[in-house]
Amino acid sequence: MANINQNQDREQWGSKIGFILAAAGSAVGLGNLWKFPYMAGKNGGGAFVLVYFIILFLVGFTLMLAEIVLGRHTQLNAIGAYRKIRKNWAWVGGLGVLAGFLILSFYSVVGGWVINYIVKSLTGALNVSDAEVLGGMFGELISGTTVPIFYHGLFMLATLLIVFGGIGGGIEKSSKIMMPALFIMIIILAIRSMTLPGAVEGIKYLLVPDFSKITIGVILDALGQVFFSLSLGMGCMITYGSYLSKDTNIPQSATIIPLIDTGVALLAGLAVLPAVFAFGFEPSAGPGLIFITFPAVFAQMPLGSLFAVMFFVLVLFAALSSSISLLEVCVAYVVDEWKMNRKVTTIVLGVVIFLIGIPCSLSLGPWSDITLLPGKGFFDTFDFVSSNILLPLGGLLLCIFVGWIWGTDNAIKEATNDGNLEFKLSGAWAFLVKYVGPVAILLVFIRSLL
Ligand code: PFF
Ligand code: NA
Repeated sequence: MANINQNQDREQWGSKIGFILAAAGSAVGLGNLWKFPYMAGKNGGGAFVLVYFIILFLVGFTLMLAEIVLGRHTQLNAIGAYRKIRKNWAWVGGLGVLAGFLILSFYSVVGGWVINYIVKSLTGALNVSDAEVLGGMFGELISGTTVPIFYHGLFMLATLLIVFGGIGGGIEKSSKIMMPALFIMIIILAIRSMTLPGAVEGIKYLLVPDFSKITIGVILDALGQVFFSLSLGMGCMITYGSYLSKDTNIPQSATIIPLIDTGVALLAGLAVLPAVFAFGFEPSAGPGLIFITFPAVFAQMPLGSLFAVMFFVLVLFAALSSSISLLEVCVAYVVDEWKMNRKVTTIVLGVVIFLIGIPCSLSLGPWSDITLLPGKGFFDTFDFVSSNILLPLGGLLLCIFVGWIWGTDNAIKEATNDGNLEFKLSGAWAFLVKYVGPVAILLVFIRSLL
């Protein structure tokens, strides 16, 4: 009955939990396990975490709801959704597809490192706890030429094959198994890490904010990280929301997904930073942080090598359930708007993104002299431009669109399933979307430009 007005040809999620798992699968990924710990380490620990939480509460939950509601209302991809409501806003969706393209190209390079670390852990090469050796091993991998490109290709191939399976078959099924397993594993790791001698310093570093460390750079990084981690600002949740049926409880989903994502990020931080201090590593070590720290923790555990294999396999699964959503945004756009064949589109886009990822990988080794932005090569530029500029900009425009153009009344009508559902905080949500979100994002942008 609830489905009567819906586009009957469009594929839908098999179940409510299927959507939550897939959306959480998109959110939980390298952003939590790889990027969050090293961003926190780089930006003063507790200071970063505090700012992250403030932004999460002001814009994270708000935009999660806005995107899902917009997607389900229009039943369209990111660009189509904007266009359906206001023709000349389609380019905002286009900005999102562009961001997805850029993100996936460097995301897949990191995904490739993860596959390589699965191989390393299988061969026992990771069975060391010496920081120098582990750091050297990581440096050798990422600065290589053919090896990291080969693994980047493998990761893209895996992503492509899952997206090939379509919504229910590929994306939904794989998330159902991987998510819970990852959660358990990361809890075990956090416990081991926090009980290492000297770990307390790391826990303090992560959880006790040093207010003097809060700079505009830290705030911009935290803003970008909230968007990146929650898969917001590029229409990913619009696209996933478009496959939802009309009887889903969106306010509830939009609360659960950010909670899961933040939980995993914090657990990853608690698994990494205490160990960083216990082993005397540098918290500001950068993108290699987890690849150096985790093997050292495993070396301190009974059955460590077994855990290492399991862990990196789960990181790979988490990365894949995110990369498929990045590819899906681009595929959904081309299929819906250009009426192209889904399989052909998937292959073509996969190959193009693989090619764009090659300079990202090379920029960490042979091409390290080439800079696109001051001090930033391809990899860092793609990351900075997409996470810290395109996603927050997409979020700002989404706030304006939902708050002022489509209108919060229409959005709330959709969110409550035409008034059939309770949404207690709808007033607060409308205020956040119309005023707080746009002002907060604009302020951060303006301050960081000055
Ligand atoms: N949220 C993912 C992560 O934290 O790894 C990355 C991501 C996926 C960003 C999908 C944006 C997106 F649309
Ligand atoms: Na995330």
